[in-house]
Amino acid sequence: MKDQLEVLELSKGSGAKELYVKKIRNGSVIDHISAGHALDVLKILGIGGGEGHIVSVAMNVSSKSDSKKDIVKVENRELKPGEVDKIALIAPSATINIIRDYEVAEKTRVKLPESIRGIVRCANPACVSNAGEPVEPKFLVERQDPLRLRCFYCVRIMEKLDVLKQF
Ligand code: CTP
Ligand code: ZN
Repeated sequence: MKDQLEVLELSKGSGAKELYVKKIRNGSVIDHISAGHALDVLKILGIGGGEGHIVSVAMNVSSKSDSKKDIVKVENRELKPGEVDKIALIAPSATINIIRDYEVAEKTRVKLPESIRGIVRCANPACVSNAGEPVEPKFLVERQDPLRLRCFYCVRIMEKLDVLKQF
């Protein structure tokens, strides 16, 4: 089936009360993504457009609170645990909704633990975690948003852009 990638950029104050993107029958809705990061979420999911998934994207739409958010809906696809961990890094307030037969069957809020291991590499080439030793990369989460990770082994600080480069 051909991809239907629908990118809607609707500004706050448009007065729209209806849904920006129609409800889906089965699949995953990643909601409350930090505004402007929907395309990063698609990258994490490995969706480039040529895979055939039906995908809808809304960017910078008003959420119930005063802020703006992005939404990604992927039909007939559920997320893998590794993907959820990566989404937590770039969109710490995202919710993952699994939709089955139009109903929200499961809703989970992503969670960024105090330390993360195995998802990203240290950007410092001299770090012991890059030395070919059996040392798993490990970072302390100093700040969630904007993201700030401190390597457990060296002095390197990693921010959202450093992390995104690896996805
Ligand atoms: N959704 C969808 N298709 C469905 C059901 C829900 O695309 N068949 C979307 C909704 O549009 C919403 C998200 O999934 O973006 C979560 O749905 P729901 O829990 O019903 O909405 P809220 O109560 O507003 O969720 P929250 O409290 O997480 O903001
Ligand atoms: Zn390091």
